[in-house]
Amino acid sequence: MAKLFEEFELKGVHFKNRIVMAPMCMYQSDKEDGHVTDWHRVHYPTRAVGGVGLIITEATAVQPIGRISSRDLGIWDDAHIDGQAEIVRLMKANGAKTGIQLAHAGRKATVDGDIQAPSAIAFNDQYKTPTAMTAEEIDETVQAFRDGAIRAKKAGFDVIEIHAAHGYLINQFLSPLTNKRTDEYGGSSENRYRLLRRILDEVNAVWSGPLFVRISAEDYADGGMSPGQYVEMTQWMKQQNVDLIDVSSGAVVPAKIPVYPGYQVNFAETIKKQTPIATGAVGLITEPRHAEEILQNGRADFIFLARELLRNPYWAYTAATELGADIEAPVPYERGWI
Ligand SMILES: Cc1cc2nc3c(=O)[nH]c(=O)nc-3n(C[C@H](O)[C@H](O)[C@H](O)COP(=O)(O)O)c2cc1C
Repeated sequence: MAKLFEEFELKGVHFKNRIVMAPMCMYQSDKEDGHVTDWHRVHYPTRAVGGVGLIITEATAVQPIGRISSRDLGIWDDAHIDGQAEIVRLMKANGAKTGIQLAHAGRKATVDGDIQAPSAIAFNDQYKTPTAMTAEEIDETVQAFRDGAIRAKKAGFDVIEIHAAHGYLINQFLSPLTNKRTDEYGGSSENRYRLLRRILDEVNAVWSGPLFVRISAEDYADGGMSPGQYVEMTQWMKQQNVDLIDVSSGAVVPAKIPVYPGYQVNFAETIKKQTPIATGAVGLITEPRHAEEILQNGRADFIFLARELLRNPYWAYTAATELGADIEAPVPYERGWI
């Protein structure tokens, strides 16, 4: 049996295979109120019909000021729960486990008004210059992640992923390139980790299901973070009840990323072996045999697919055929596979 189709369990949640749909912003909350729309009701359940084991929905803002765009999904209000619960129900009804990525864009927010970050440094001249967060604003943000986790639980999600990658708020605190604070949130790695530590503590207080963190393991810039440096932090994450590190890279500062098939897999492998902790590999993984190689060689535990699932929502069936795995198709589709 192909490892890609081996089952996996985390904190009592059973995953039917190792295929994860990576979070992808859809920017389809067209009334700019953070609510789920018909687009989400069709897009996500389609990937469940397509045989994906775990679908992690897009970066979902815990505060309006933390939206990447005004069309992001949100979870800052109880009014968001019903819409989220509906897509969860539709994904589960079609056989997938469900995850939500709780997010705050920090200095990469493009919403109206002031934006916030650890330090008052713009990403580049296309972005606004943020204000450096006060201690009170940090407290409010930590609380917002807690409240977001409570709402995610009420909506019925199986997994929470904290977005600490791609140069968004938490990543801005973790990296010395963007965090120039002189208080208890800046300087040493312990201090730069403090925001994430507090967020994980608060999420753990209200959430007992599988907990993932997405990191950018490599900043691709002098003086920035590297996978080796992240091992210390992922060890802290593990102590804080985190089950899996979803290992991405880049985007904390404008820097060129060398991109090729599996370009981030080595980072996932380093974190997995040195922490040790379960990891997800992501980034230009499109071929079933490549996915299988990563799992068979123990380089990661889950394969996260993003763009490939935009092109082919039924990738799991293609992969099963190629790897000789016998998987169940939805009953109405069975004749397509006989
Ligand atoms: C349309 C699109 C939206 C994305 N939105 C998110 C997001 O909301 N959160 C996130 O962590 N990564 C996001 N990403 C990054 C993907 O999750 C993934 O890490 C990246 O595309 C590399 O994987 P791939 O080569 O399989 O596409 C997005 C990527 C795409 C193409």
